[in-house]
Amino acid sequence: MSAENPITQTAIDSAVAAALASINAAADLAALKAARATSVGEQSQIAKLNALVKNLPNEFKASAGQLIGKARGELNAAFATREAELFVLAERAKLAAESVDVTSAAAPTRMGARHPLSLLQDQISDVFVGMGWEIAEGPEVESEWFNFDALNFDADHPARAMQDTFFVEPVESHLVLRTHTSPVQVRSMLERDIPIYVLCPGRVFRTDELDATHTPVFHQVEGLAIDKGLTMADLRGTLEHFARIMFGEGAQIRLRPSFFPFTEPSAELDVWHPGAKGGARWVEWGGCGMVNPNVLKAAGIDPEVYSGFAFGMGIERTLMFRNDVRDMHDMVESDVRFSEQFGVNL
Ligand code: PHE
Repeated sequence: MSAENPITQTAIDSAVAAALASINAAADLAALKAARATSVGEQSQIAKLNALVKNLPNEFKASAGQLIGKARGELNAAFATREAELFVLAERAKLAAESVDVTSAAAPTRMGARHPLSLLQDQISDVFVGMGWEIAEGPEVESEWFNFDALNFDADHPARAMQDTFFVEPVESHLVLRTHTSPVQVRSMLERDIPIYVLCPGRVFRTDELDATHTPVFHQVEGLAIDKGLTMADLRGTLEHFARIMFGEGAQIRLRPSFFPFTEPSAELDVWHPGAKGGARWVEWGGCGMVNPNVLKAAGIDPEVYSGFAFGMGIERTLMFRNDVRDMHDMVESDVRFSEQFGVNL
């Protein structure tokens, strides 16, 4: 028999060399997977040689089969080795990519800041709590009776028009958005035992357009003291103490006769602001007076036995001249950069 055996050692060697080259050239697992068909798979040279075996003359079959089997074993081992190597490299790369540097500084996040009106309201509350007063609160949607009637505003007294009221519909509900914190005076007198020393900070509403000095929603702080023998001197002393804490030791107060239906006598309260921007000056700060006996009676308190004083001022207004805030818009726009100027104080 003179038939040729195409499965020579040389043919095997070149098939193995080509396959090893493509296995070793694969730089990652995806490339190795792609190289599989041409190195050890169906389209590989070694597979093609293998396909020839069945047509070989019988005498060559055994040795050819052996050579190919050995070569395949070698290639499969090479493939597995390369796969293991690339797997380790891939793991390493993944770990490196996912590593966290626990020593690196945290990404800065913005803290935010409390609004200066809240800070000031708390500071004012602290002044009075420090003197043994209590903090009282009342509803923002208030009955007309507490907001006006019980405070001695006559049904058609022009004083009722003094404050531009948001009435809640239907009108028969007799509800308003409270125009001042004074209704909390009446609530406190009804709810508490005498002596009463309460401070009532809170939100109030008036039909003003928002402009540099007005806002339809603002804050007031109200003070009320009911006890035996209270006089204007007690009112003065309390306000003077309060003014000094707010505006410094050089602060003074001045009372100018005025009118409020719920106090008699009534006064406008001015404060001498020593640190005012542009020089020390008098600034209108709020209203005050001795609680009108009619108000005491409306709350079931005998004006022959007890007397009281009350005062009220705007918190926005206080912040404006105390900290030289010129524009009300800054207070309502909620820009954290405005608040941050007053300290973060969370
Ligand atoms: N409630 C009054 C106002 O809003 C202020 C005030 C309070 C006056 C207490 C006297 C006594 O204008």
